[in-house]
Amino acid sequence: MNNLFGSVYKGTKVLVTGHTGFKGSWLALWLAKLNAYVTGFSLPPISTPNHYELLDSDIHSLVGDIRNCDELNTVFVEEKPEIVFHLAAQALVRPSYQNPLETFSSNIMGTANVIEVCRISPSVKAIVIITTDKCYENKEWQWGYREIDRLGGYDPYSASKACAEIVSSSYRRSFFSNTDQSNKSSNVLLASCRAGNVIGGGDWAEDRIIPDIVRSVVKSESVQIRNPYAIRPWQHVLESLSAYLMLGQKLLEGEQSFAEAWNFGPDNDHILNVETIVKTMQKNWPEIKYSNSQADGSLHEAGTLTLDCTKAKQKLKWLPVWDVYQTIEKTTDWYRQFYDKNTVCSLSQINEYIDFAKQKKARWAQS
Ligand SMILES: NC(=O)c1ccc[n+]([C@@H]2O[C@H](COP(=O)([O-])OP(=O)(O)OC[C@H]3O[C@@H](n4cnc5c(N)ncnc54)[C@H](O)[C@@H]3O)[C@@H](O)[C@H]2O)c1
Repeated sequence: MNNLFGSVYKGTKVLVTGHTGFKGSWLALWLAKLNAYVTGFSLPPISTPNHYELLDSDIHSLVGDIRNCDELNTVFVEEKPEIVFHLAAQALVRPSYQNPLETFSSNIMGTANVIEVCRISPSVKAIVIITTDKCYENKEWQWGYREIDRLGGYDPYSASKACAEIVSSSYRRSFFSNTDQSNKSSNVLLASCRAGNVIGGGDWAEDRIIPDIVRSVVKSESVQIRNPYAIRPWQHVLESLSAYLMLGQKLLEGEQSFAEAWNFGPDNDHILNVETIVKTMQKNWPEIKYSNSQADGSLHEAGTLTLDCTKAKQKLKWLPVWDVYQTIEKTTDWYRQFYDKNTVCSLSQINEYIDFAKQKKARWAQS
């Protein structure tokens, strides 16, 4: 695995915030297998089971809160990371209605703290900030949003992530980019990533469709599908991680023109409605039962929201690897292996993903 991503991660000190969460735990695992020195900084995992603890990984795990700047600073002084992947966040829309202040403080001030500490840390060369496709002002139109489109957000989660984008852009322009002004105090390169919904094994978050299905099937219950006809772009978690790692590679290699905002999403034929996803999962897991229920009209939820990923494809040469049916199959297979065989197959799925990426001639997978 060492020769992937131009071998930049081999022996590199990497800090992953949010490593106890769904995406962060997969990213930390992949980075460790690329022979990076990985430190994770997060709150403790909230679900039982959770992917991070199941991996039983030997990465250096630190428990802490990104809202505490002093605590973060100590981590940077001691660990001296060269690149930071910032994933820690209150990551769900519905809880953001229940606890908006926590969402705003973690996602806005938490992001500002992480970037500020990167700014004063002499070791940091690159920062990859993870936001979301929901950072765009959703006009419910049928076209994909481009990186130049207007930011916004109706619910507190989306708004907090739009703010995280603005904070990132402000730091980049005021302190980091090595362009026009003389007051730039740092050569750190910062990029932000706006990826859409991801699925994969090891997610037990509340109020997400795949974990909801899994929780119901293991209890032999029928799952209620809240928005059966809602269209969502579906992507395996490894797709977005390959994009973050590619971008991290460019930044570590000092490519300034990549220090900007990026969309990463699936191809248009990966955009299925929720009911089709459940039916496709059922083919691989016949015990799944579901019924359609009325959407809870009390909370506003976005309808159609897709991304235009032309820039990622043309400039970064990133491309999706698994199609939507492979994505659902791998996801279902992960949970079946876990519940039927007590096996955690994350590493073997990363290897399958790499093999397929090589066949598809993905740029990052070429030696
Ligand atoms: N899962 C998705 O479909 C999806 C889609 C788009 C963007 N994202 C973004 O990707 C990132 C990771 O999402 P996820 O699905 O893994 O979420 P998750 O809820 O599984 O994990 C969130 C992580 O952040 C940590 N965290 C939260 N608040 C913190 C705080 N104040 N201090 C320290 N750590 C804190 C948690 O401990 C956990 O490790 C988030 O930034 C999220 O907004 C996720």
